[in-house]
This record gives sequence, structure tokens and C-alpha cells, in this order.
Amino acid sequence: MDRIRIVGGNELHGVIPISGAKNAALPLMIASLLTDDTLTLENVPHLADVEQLIRILGNHGADISVNGRRERQGESYARTVHFTSRNIVSTTAPYELVSKMRASFWVIGPLLAREGRARVSLPGGCAIGTRPVDLFIEGLTALGASIEIDGGYVNATAPAGGLIGGRYTFPKVSVGATHVLMMAATLANGTTVLGNAAREPEVVDLAKCLNAMGAKISGQGTSTITIEGVRSLSGARHRVLPDRIETGTYAMAVAMAGGDVILEDTEASLLDTALEAIRRAGAEISDTNNGIRIVRDGAGIRPVDIVTDPFPGFPTDLQAQFMGLMTRSSGVSHITETIFENRFMHVQELARLGAKISLSGQTAKVEGVSRLKGAPVMATDLRASVSLVIAGLAAEGETMVSRVYHLDRGFERLEEKLTRCGAHVERVSD
Ligand code: EPZ
Repeated sequence: MDRIRIVGGNELHGVIPISGAKNAALPLMIASLLTDDTLTLENVPHLADVEQLIRILGNHGADISVNGRRERQGESYARTVHFTSRNIVSTTAPYELVSKMRASFWVIGPLLAREGRARVSLPGGCAIGTRPVDLFIEGLTALGASIEIDGGYVNATAPAGGLIGGRYTFPKVSVGATHVLMMAATLANGTTVLGNAAREPEVVDLAKCLNAMGAKISGQGTSTITIEGVRSLSGARHRVLPDRIETGTYAMAVAMAGGDVILEDTEASLLDTALEAIRRAGAEISDTNNGIRIVRDGAGIRPVDIVTDPFPGFPTDLQAQFMGLMTRSSGVSHITETIFENRFMHVQELARLGAKISLSGQTAKVEGVSRLKGAPVMATDLRASVSLVIAGLAAEGETMVSRVYHLDRGFERLEEKLTRCGAHVERVSD
């Protein structure tokens, strides 16, 4: 099994191309099931989660072809992928496929809307909390679906004439349930109004793509989304938006290691709150014409408190990385996780590198140390694993991260992107 070896101490200098967003690409790919026409997505990142979803969509009858590469210095970083689901050959998403990735549960929306039924295994995914599906069930029920859970599967059936537009207000903000209800409602009879909807940029990107396919969605990016159902959707061509989590991760890596890096093909407006926290920690951040520049010279890292929140708040997907950064701050910082109840698995691994972190409920108290020392550590989930890479960049000596398949789920060519900027990071195959 591959491991990542990091020898800390080098500053980062250069350019890092930011990939298309994993968390936008996944729902966009799933949206292709809503039409018998071809949906072409540009800037699709090459990641294990994307490959897994390609297998799942293939199981439902999607014909998928990959071409066109965005080249940079001879390396391809993103692909154009065409999805055509002329006929849905199966409305069942089996346990063996769905258990590997939670987002694959989201096929329930398009399958139910287009075929009138879906049988989808209860999901798996990162072990960061219980992650139930109650909001999906309540929301789809509000659109007229009958749903039962049996033998680990969610069986959903639409009324004879198809789903019916309805009103649903989420009791809690959910990105995935917003994606699913928005997709399902595009083909419902009548108008759907979703209250307390997620406002994440990935939701806006999905709505933009669905509208290009002929849907009538308005209000995306606010907490009330209105969807007027249409009879059918057509194909479209859509470019996946930049990955704000990857952007924030590399910004934190530069803030940690020091240096001067341009993050290319991204937008600061996708992650204002996180960038503000990094600025307060002592890095200088400015816009370039195609991304952002981040600089930290001799200045130390200052302690900053953060609380994770749905967009536009500080993203939970950057919490572990920020904690990695704070381990080297000059004081005490508090990091509070409000989205997932078990997203502190990186704490004990960061401690192996010499970090001083104590947990009290949903808050971690991080006492900055002047020195981290390399050690063997284990990746526990996608974002936790990259926080270990960030800490490793500033640790003395060698940090060896095992279980890197977690990293491969969400970071495209991580070691190449960092190495090009002067970091000593390599993949070691046993
Ligand atoms: C999306 O997950 C992301 N995944 C996650 O990123 C991200 O951490 C999360 O949103 C929050 O921003 C993708 O986009 C593929 P939620 P999702 O539904 O949609 C609770 C990463 O590292 N909830 O917004 O699954 C849930 O338990 C991943 O890339 C219910 O209670 O998250 C959580 O506490 C990990 N019932 C909260 O809502 C439900 O039916 C928010 O979860 C659904 C969710």
C-alpha cells in the first residue's frame, strides 16, 4: 500500500494549478442521469472518488467517455468527460458500490425523478460521524415519494404521474440533501420550494448546470431555492468550478511552510472566510488575474480561533488543515467543529508529531509549539490525512503518512503539486 514521505523544512515557491472541485464534480456527474442526452463536463478532477462514481453510473446504464486534457508542463490535471444515459438499465444502486462513497447515495434523486423508482443502499463514506439520510427521505416524501427502508436499502417510489412539486424546509443545512432535492424537483410536476437550503458554491454550480440542461431553478446561493418542474432535460456542456477545499489546503500549506505561491485557476470568493483566517494567522493573500497569491515570509504564525459552519462560514472540510497550521502558532487557538460529531481523528495523529491539542466536546484547544518532529502517522479520512501532510511540511525530519488512499479520494497529484514548489514529498510504494 502506498505511503507519502515528507521531509519537512523547505519553503514553497512557485505555481500550483487548482483542480476542478471533487464536491461539485460528483453531483454534476450524477445529474447526467436526468437526461437521455449527453452531458459534457470539463475540468473533472482525476480522483479515486470520481472513478468510483463512474463505475456506479455505468451500472445504471451511463455510457462514459473521457477526452481532452488540460496540460501543464506535460502533466494532465483535468479531463473532459462525456456522460450519456440513453436508457436507465438499473434503478438499483447496490451496497458493494454505494458503501464506498456516501455521495453515490445521491443517485436516488435522478433515478426517482426519471424512472419513478429507485432502490439505493444506505451509504458509507468517510468515518466522520453518523451521517444519516433522514433529510433525504423527508424531502423526497414532500415531493410525493413513498419510501421504505428494508434490508439496508432505501426503496423509493414516485406517484403514477411522477414526483409532485412541494415545499420542504430542511431542519438542518445539508449539502447532499439540497443537491438531491434540487435534482429530483427539476422533473416534478409543478413548483418546489426548498427552505434552509445549502448555499455552498457546489450547489450553485449544480443549479447552473441543471439550468443549462433546461431546468428552471432560481434562488441558488440563497437559503430559498425554487424549482419549476419541466417535462424533460437536455444535454449541456459545463465546466466544473475550482476546488475551494484544495485551494484552502494549499494556502494553509504555504502559510505553514512559508514561501510565495500562486494558486492558479481558482477564485478567492469561493473561500473568503477561510482566507481571512489564514490572513489573520499571518500570511499575505492577494488576487491575481487567474487565482490567488499567498506569501508568508519571516513572520511567525499567529493563533486564530475558528468555528466551522455551513457556507459562507468556515468549511468543515478545511478544519483539519487549519488545525495542522495552528499546531505551530505562537499561542493558543480554539477550533470548534459544528457540522460533524467525529471529525477530530487527526488530533491524535498530529500529537505524534509533537502537537499539543486537547479536546473538550466539539472544541479542540491547540497550544502552538515551536517545533514539530517527523514521525510515522496514519491517514484516517480525506481531509485529516492532508492535515498531516501540512504538519509534516513544517516538521523536522521525516514524516511517513500511511493509508494514503484517503488522500487519493480528493487530492489530484498532491505530491507533484507540492514537489514542484520545492517541498520534499514523495510517494513510496511498498
Ligand atoms: C458534503 O457532504 C461534502 N461531500 C462533505 O465533504 C462536506 O464535509 C459536507 O458536505 C459539509 O460541507 C460532498 O459534497 C461529496 P451534509 P454531505 O449533508 O452532503 C447531517 C469531503 O471531505 N445530515 O451537508 O454528506 C450530517 O450528518 C466531504 O470532501 C443529517 O443529519 O454533508 C451532518 O452533520 C466529507 N441527515 C450535516 O447534516 C441527513 O439526511 C451536514 O451534512 C443528511 C445530513
